[in-house]
Amino acid sequence: MYCTRKITDEIVWVGGYDRRLALFENLFPIPRGVTYNSYLILDEKVALMDTVDSSISHQFMDNITHSLAGRSIDYLIVNHMEPDHCANIEELLIRYPDMKIIGNAKTIDLIKQFYDMDIEKNIIIVKEHDVLELGNHTLTFYMTPMVHWPEVMMTFEEKHGILFSADAFGSFGALNGNLFNDELDFDNAWLSDYRRYYSNIVGKYGTQVQNSLKKLSSLDIKMICPLHGPIWRSNLEFLLEKYDKWSSYTPEEQTVALFYASMYGNTESAINILANELVEAGVRNIVVYDVSNTHVSTLVEEVFRCSHIVIAAPTYNGSIYPAMFNFLHDMQALNLQNRTVGLLDNGSWAPTANRQVVSMIESMKDMEILQPIVSIRSALKENTHAQLLELKDAIVASLKK
Ligand code: FEO
Repeated sequence: MYCTRKITDEIVWVGGYDRRLALFENLFPIPRGVTYNSYLILDEKVALMDTVDSSISHQFMDNITHSLAGRSIDYLIVNHMEPDHCANIEELLIRYPDMKIIGNAKTIDLIKQFYDMDIEKNIIIVKEHDVLELGNHTLTFYMTPMVHWPEVMMTFEEKHGILFSADAFGSFGALNGNLFNDELDFDNAWLSDYRRYYSNIVGKYGTQVQNSLKKLSSLDIKMICPLHGPIWRSNLEFLLEKYDKWSSYTPEEQTVALFYASMYGNTESAINILANELVEAGVRNIVVYDVSNTHVSTLVEEVFRCSHIVIAAPTYNGSIYPAMFNFLHDMQALNLQNRTVGLLDNGSWAPTANRQVVSMIESMKDMEILQPIVSIRSALKENTHAQLLELKDAIVASLKK
């Protein structure tokens, strides 16, 4: 049975939800599931904007069959060739053998890498600014490589000003029928999932996102239709501003996120004291995370939000405690920049974590490390407590800059 919604009189959402998948990309927890969006434009010619993940193929095919009402698909536009959006190309070709597949040269390469379909007679290769006329709707293609894969492109529909934006402007989370941004409680229920999705999936490619934002800035965009999450038809400037901040590695908030690893509670205790002192000094909205029991995708999300971070880790096997090392490695991999960092380590006989953390932080761009760097021997004592208060003062002074 079909489960669709109208975007306009001639454009139908034919996507679906997966609330069973535990890990997106078999990596990121998605307790609220995920949405796979696909859009059907019913004009003189019929165009389908991407497909969906194999987990919801049955629902997707029901949606398409109902919406087509006996018509065929003329064009499948592949904005993104990651399998969560193109698992149904083969099935569509079986059902609609004359359907043309539109992508750029890299898209076609990836189709051939992933699948064993004979698609030569179906392929139409497009490049920057190429145009496809459907009748009342004109589609223009914009190449936006590495947002999130090299073949990614976006498609702009002129009549309604709709940007089909591929992964950009998407989010984790299955929708609850509330397909449009103005139908849901965005700030309270969705902003965190948007930030976690952006920072972990696309965060590495800030430069490419900035290039794409500049390229698209001349378009009169009235609606954004991403491949995941809600469709935006109001307050677009809010979302565009968030993307500008995230992709330029600009902190959203002047506040502190404290991340600790602690084997027996002594490092944790030092961080709790520091957090209390920071709040006493007037800092607001600080957050504290135990990296051992918080998924790294949440830690990354908070690093993208906060201007100041504190890293507190024991030395372990002569190295950085593994969960913290993994977090720092993710920061490096995602190209994190432009943060102010406080450091604390702990070691009972040979504390070396701080030295190695400094090296990892210094490998990132525009990172400032505050003084003093605090090193605890087993547990906080009067001398290290005094250093911790000095670090608090340095953080507060830096926040006031
Ligand atoms: Fe939702 Fe990059 O795929």
